[in-house]
Amino acid sequence: MDGNGRWAKARRRPRPFGHQAGAKRAREVVAACPDLGVKYVTLYAFSTENWKRSRAEITALMALFRHYIRKTSHELHAEGARVRFIGDRGPLDKKLVKLIGELEDLTRDNDRVHVTVALNYGGRDEILRATRKMADAVKAGTLAPEDIGEDTMASYLDTAGMPDPDLVVRTSGESRTSNFLTWQSAYAEYEFTETLWPDFGKEQFAQALDKFGLRERRYGGVS
Ligand code: IPE
Ligand code: MG
Repeated sequence: MDGNGRWAKARRRPRPFGHQAGAKRAREVVAACPDLGVKYVTLYAFSTENWKRSRAEITALMALFRHYIRKTSHELHAEGARVRFIGDRGPLDKKLVKLIGELEDLTRDNDRVHVTVALNYGGRDEILRATRKMADAVKAGTLAPEDIGEDTMASYLDTAGMPDPDLVVRTSGESRTSNFLTWQSAYAEYEFTETLWPDFGKEQFAQALDKFGLRERRYGGVS
């Protein structure tokens, strides 16, 4: 979800104004998923690199996350959404971690749409944390190095049990993947759009999905 800052700047407003508009869009996109046939959606809300931003912007973002979880928990539950968070919760503030846990518990048994929020998430950081956990298991004698395969790695990642993404959409004209689902996106299709995230609504989402539907995926094989 990129382009909130530029969206705000174009309106001569502070960056958090763009983040508020972006959060509203994220909510709409999640609500549109069942209609569009999307069973799993992952929102990249805050990366492990985003701590480089100003204290003021980080504070505003964290407050926005808390506000949105409080505001939308019950309607998300009513919509049959199962919400999970990926990323390292260690550095997040205790109040936010508590809200995350409560939302995950509340929606645990839902299955209409699976919503994953990547918060303090980095693909490399996730692989490193998984590797440390595997090393601990090897040391404890519960995992044999020769048994470590792709499935093992996948089961140690934050996304354990979730399918790999079919399509990754990046907004705002940047053609980078920026540490998003590094392991999981090996065979994902990418859609890079010029649209800034606060302008990315259900229409744009539906268009990206239509385009994706026309692509041929060979996974390294032949047609
Ligand atoms: C939102 O867009 C991404 C978040 C980290 C919340 P940006 O804040 O990166 O917007 P630009 O790139 O400055 O326009
Ligand atoms: Mg950006």
